[in-house]
Amino acid sequence: MRLKLACTALLAFAQMPAFGQANVDEYRALLADKDANPAFLWIARGEELFKRKAGPKNASLERCDFGLGPGVLKGAYAQLPRYFADTGRVQDLESRLLTCMVELQGRDIAEIKRKPYSDQRRNENPTELEMLAVFVAEKSTGMRFAMPTAHPLEQESLKVGEALFYRRWGLMDFSCSTCHNESGKRIRLQSLMNKNDVKDVQSVMATWPTYRVSHGTVRTMQHRMWDCHWQMRLPDIDYGSPASVALIAYLTRRAEGGVIDVPGIKR
Ligand code: HEC
Repeated sequence: MRLKLACTALLAFAQMPAFGQANVDEYRALLADKDANPAFLWIARGEELFKRKAGPKNASLERCDFGLGPGVLKGAYAQLPRYFADTGRVQDLESRLLTCMVELQGRDIAEIKRKPYSDQRRNENPTELEMLAVFVAEKSTGMRFAMPTAHPLEQESLKVGEALFYRRWGLMDFSCSTCHNESGKRIRLQSLMNKNDVKDVQSVMATWPTYRVSHGTVRTMQHRMWDCHWQMRLPDIDYGSPASVALIAYLTRRAEGGVIDVPGIKR
């Protein structure tokens, strides 16, 4: 049912001419229809991938521990990022997926990280990480963000994330806060999240991973960090790096209590 609706919605998007106001309204109405979210196709494929044996160890990811024990998916995303004793690091969903692909399946991390995101301009298939991330995150839909903060490294990550958020650097001397510190700011038609407005941060963070209509694919929070680093004209931020996780931890903590609503759908 959902898949059929998803296809109908995709066709509707494809048939839309250049956007006038009427189209924008129609577009927003379509975006509000959750069941029509094409991301359910990514989720279905993510589940297959999760259960498929792969890599030199010919293992699936079903024993992956996202913090609530091996194989426990329900609610796990709601408590990420968090400290993991086996890696000795604070990890978000995506860096944890990398750990499981390496540890359980014996795969080469450099090989996976060579292409974490699909390139919509080349009409590429979604990457494994994109499909897996939305599959796992969706299992926490309806739950509230409740990132653990007791471990010293969790506290450190939050502090680093905050410092990075305000750090101005690069050619433009931008910080994240330059664009995300006030309500009512926008770039073209995109309204910009205001990190001081808890409700805004909750609704933003709750809806990632999200189907990006303009990209024709599912995008993840790591991709958003990468994309905003590009907006700041900074070098690419390394996928799953401690810096990326710290920024995500900082924003997730600010979204504490927000109800997860994955998959999102955004312009
Ligand atoms: C030059 C302005 C600019 C800077 C600086 C910037 N961003 Fe963004 N950010 C944007 C824009 C524009 C969007 C919305 C993109 C869209 O909808 O197409 C966005 C979107 C986001 C979102 C998702 C919002 C949503 O509606 O889902 C997050 C989270 C985010 N930025 C975090 C950051 C972080 C963290 C930094 C610093 C590393 C940062 N941004 C720096 C412009 C910026």
